[in-house]
Amino acid sequence: MQNVKSLITTRSITIDKLKKYIKMANFFYDSSKINNNRYLQKYPGHILGLVFYEPSTRTMASFHAAMSRLGGTSIVIQPETSSVKKGETLEDTIRTMGIYTDAIVLRHFDKNSSELAASVTDKAVINGGDGNGEHPTQALLDIYTIYRELGKRVFTETIKVLFVGDLKNSRTIHSLIYLLELFPNIQYIFLSPEKLQMPDEIKLELKNPSRVCTSYCSGIIEEADVIYMTRIQKERFNSNFEYYEVLKDNFVLDETNMSRAKPKVIVMHPLPRGDEISKEVDKDSRAVYFKQMEYGVYMRMAILDDILSK
Ligand code: NCD
Repeated sequence: MQNVKSLITTRSITIDKLKKYIKMANFFYDSSKINNNRYLQKYPGHILGLVFYEPSTRTMASFHAAMSRLGGTSIVIQPETSSVKKGETLEDTIRTMGIYTDAIVLRHFDKNSSELAASVTDKAVINGGDGNGEHPTQALLDIYTIYRELGKRVFTETIKVLFVGDLKNSRTIHSLIYLLELFPNIQYIFLSPEKLQMPDEIKLELKNPSRVCTSYCSGIIEEADVIYMTRIQKERFNSNFEYYEVLKDNFVLDETNMSRAKPKVIVMHPLPRGDEISKEVDKDSRAVYFKQMEYGVYMRMAILDDILSK
């Protein structure tokens, strides 16, 4: 049974819901700036469970920060230091956390993990990344970043998005595409090594035909309004050899490429990065990947508020 209060896939999000999230994130952004990020006592005594079977820096820390800034607190469960190490099942771990907390963020290597988790608790389960499947809250913060940086025109004008890197395994891209499809006219350029191309089932769902490149194609940097970079997901490969073979073919964004890009392009990355963005690009004001992680806290406050207010 699907838990009605869960954020497991991006499929249940409508354009109106997306606008509501943006409005709430703006509210938390503005109030945090006014009170210098001191806690808003909106949900005192509330507890968020952070159940992370895969490594995380930003998703875990920003959910913890978001919950704290709303006046609540978090409990972290990770395999190495919990009964998962003794062989406890995902279901029993989630049942336990469902008793101790008000909502659970789950990151897991299995694509169906969030559905399974939601079936054993009546608390909200938020998918914090499920293998190479989806990462809905990252997609929401990515949309918020695009909105903050490009403005309201995203709701009316044609926006060209260049996705670069591991398009096969990047759950952040998969979820982001489903949300971008809610906008009137998004055009996609996919640049990835041959073996890491966008899955057909996702391409089939796009309103506009996409341009696909397996090595650099002329004009793509010049045309893009958004350049969304990703790392090659090493943990999804069977061997180091296979990983290093595709890594050789990966596109690297550097100052020379950036000199050809639009003056108002934005460069995004969910982070962590490998070598796909040269450090020198960090100084370019069009690189917004560090702002993106800040926007993430406000969007995650909006997500938690939406769930906890019910
Ligand atoms: C991403 C993830 O875990 O999917 N990171 C994140 O959540 N910010 C991207 C990645 O690991 O490459």
